Amino acid sequence: MSRPPLRVAVLGAGTVGGAVLDGLLHHPERLATADGPPFAVVAVAVRDLGKARDDGLAGDLLTDAPAHLVADAETDVIVELMGGIEPARTLITAALSAGKPVVTANKSVVAHHGPELEAESRKSGAAFRFEAAVAGGIPILAPLAADLAGNDIIRVRGIVNGTTNFILTAMAQEGQPYDEVLREAQDQGYAEADPSGDVEGDDAANKLVILARLAFGRWLDPGSVGRRPPTARGMGRPGITGVSDQQMEGAAALGLTIKLLATASRRDDEIEAAVMPTAVPSDSPFGWTDGVTNRIEIEADPLGTIRVAGPGAGGAATSSAVLGDLVAVARGLGSTWAGLSPSTGPAETAVDPLDRPRRWYAFLPAIPAIDGDLPAPLDRAASVEFEDGTAIRTEVATLAKARAAFAAILPDDVDVTLYPVDD
Ligand code: NAP
Ligand code: HSE
Repeated sequence: MSRPPLRVAVLGAGTVGGAVLDGLLHHPERLATADGPPFAVVAVAVRDLGKARDDGLAGDLLTDAPAHLVADAETDVIVELMGGIEPARTLITAALSAGKPVVTANKSVVAHHGPELEAESRKSGAAFRFEAAVAGGIPILAPLAADLAGNDIIRVRGIVNGTTNFILTAMAQEGQPYDEVLREAQDQGYAEADPSGDVEGDDAANKLVILARLAFGRWLDPGSVGRRPPTARGMGRPGITGVSDQQMEGAAALGLTIKLLATASRRDDEIEAAVMPTAVPSDSPFGWTDGVTNRIEIEADPLGTIRVAGPGAGGAATSSAVLGDLVAVARGLGSTWAGLSPSTGPAETAVDPLDRPRRWYAFLPAIPAIDGDLPAPLDRAASVEFEDGTAIRTEVATLAKARAAFAAILPDDVDVTLYPVDD
């Protein structure tokens, strides 16, 4: 006996929505399951109806009133792919409270309103799924909630923003100017509508909050996740916005490359979390993760360490995760958090991990003091001289000790970024 189709309303038909609609409308055979109904796209919401028609979408599917689709008794499931906080938050809340399952790729709304959206979903019993919100096409949230449920997760870290990794790779390998590569990332559909969220680390912080919810059972306040590297005298520019060609070249001479790493780990009863431009060995899994590729490493007990990598942004990759979630809804598999305990209380403040002793990398402008003895933990053996400065990696030291040593050799009006080194 054939089952009636699940009637799907798609809110947003841009980079991700367009690819999801392509899968639903043109490849239904991929989505067929033995234990769930097929799908029927009943409506698509956009702002600009003319543009959507020009893109080839049938006029009778289109509306510019997404709230009507959420309220409509003729829709069974809502796929939110518009982005941003509002009206996405209001629409998702309304759908969940009406008992309609929601699938979204919107990490911003999930990270900033996770506890209340989880509470709404648990109250009504409507599934809330957001696999596509983290690391594009890489399956990571559902495995954390289900396959790894028998473990204590100790640490989650990764390259989780495709745009910044695309830019850093082009800077390191081709010496391409930052603005030019950012434009290319936008043309490829990797960057957010406002790319400052990518390059300043906000997008990676949102993804880290979501990863931490699945790994540690708690929602963190995204605003408490640090995203500025330290300098000798204070804090640097957020995300990758302070990374220069000179620093990249200096890092390469020391066998390092700079990557934007998002890390969350347990520290006693708290969660340590930060998004940091980090110097990693060029010849290491993070070091050789290039372009739009994302990589996530999970340290778990008793499992040990696992690593997954794959396409982290763009319509095709992200549609894979959205469509997988839709199939999960059709099969009645519930929410992304599966059987994990509820987390609906206020979001917690993340602890800053920068006080952990480690090596530090900096590029110093040429200065006379560098010719004399270097104060510990600076190490001349781990330095390379350039015409316009010196690349140097310290011994293992606290941030306070590293700052004191750099401050001792730098003129008062000179500051340098201290990149944590991940050995
Ligand atoms: P996009 O290309 O900018 O598309 C957004 C779509 O939503 C457009 O069709 C837009 O319509 C529509 N829209 C926006 N606000 C609307 C409103 N108030 N009412 C009706 N329609 C509205 O964005 P995207 O790159 O597809 O991203 C969508 C979501 O997926 C975001 O949450 C993003 O963070 C997430 N995501 C993106 C990627 C990626 O690689 N791009 C990967 C993972 C997750 P108009 O075009 O008519 O304005
Ligand atoms: N702007 C995001 C990125 C899209 O570049 O990773 C994928 O979440």
